[in-house]
Amino acid sequence: MAIEETATEVILTHPENSSTFVKILKYGATVISWNLKGKEQLWLSSAAKMDGSKPVRGGIPLVFPVFGKNQDDEFLSKLPQHGLARNSTWEFLGQVSANPPTVQFGLGPEFANPELTKLWPLDYSLVLTVELGSEHLKTHIEVSNTSSEQLLKFNWLFHTYLRIDDVEDTMVSNLSGTTLYDQMLQDSYLDRQPVVSFHEELDRIYKQVDSDRLVQVIDKGKPVHTIRRHNLPDAVVWNPWIEKSKGMADFEPKTGYKEMVCVEPGHVHDFVQLQPGQTWEAYQLLYKDELKYQVI
Ligand code: BG6
Repeated sequence: MAIEETATEVILTHPENSSTFVKILKYGATVISWNLKGKEQLWLSSAAKMDGSKPVRGGIPLVFPVFGKNQDDEFLSKLPQHGLARNSTWEFLGQVSANPPTVQFGLGPEFANPELTKLWPLDYSLVLTVELGSEHLKTHIEVSNTSSEQLLKFNWLFHTYLRIDDVEDTMVSNLSGTTLYDQMLQDSYLDRQPVVSFHEELDRIYKQVDSDRLVQVIDKGKPVHTIRRHNLPDAVVWNPWIEKSKGMADFEPKTGYKEMVCVEPGHVHDFVQLQPGQTWEAYQLLYKDELKYQVI
């Protein structure tokens, strides 16, 4: 069966290859596994909580309506880090296509985590569409402001944990020449390095990256992941390295930082602002491509 629903998960299997499948946890509408022709593409902690007691450590958690911790906004500042979407059980809306298998999940204040909704009492509707291609995984989000009078101000981000063999052999390309905010240095600067490489904890927000830049994760010269972004101008690159991994109880094994890199397409440098009745949409497309150095 191409689409299988359990009490807690939805599993899509590609009709042309049963080793290509995606598993989505209803909690957070979190993609927790994407297997492409028998090979897992995403990193998931072996200690990740799947019972709704905390956001999933790994896969593709969804960040909304705030990235990180906000200090200024009356309501957003009350929310925990990365908002409420990853801490809410989404409604499974069903299948929209059989091939490629495509499903939708919905979230609004009536379904979202009630404790967090009290802190951020705005009207909104989210529809996440997950499409499993024979060679790709597309996650598309639509956000609507369902209020008749209030502005809806939010960040969005796909917090994608990509599986790699060894972070010390890995580079992330096509971000050169972009201004970034370095969360470790708490400073902004223009990245002049041809590629991002990893030797210590790294936490950077690349801002306003041209939409035609394909971000590639390269392992020993070979591209292992390619990310296309639509309407998501910013890209966070994160690896917790040794000390930060030790501090995260749900990050296991502790050496797992070697096998993951987060490349997170988002709209986080500033807020999307929707007037009553307006809708905004964006997507992330994960696939395989040849090496494309668009900038060095
Ligand atoms: C990244 C942030 O997106 O998420 C990091 O840039 C943060 O600063 C990381 O540490 C993980 O966040 P969390 O809330 O899932 O531990």
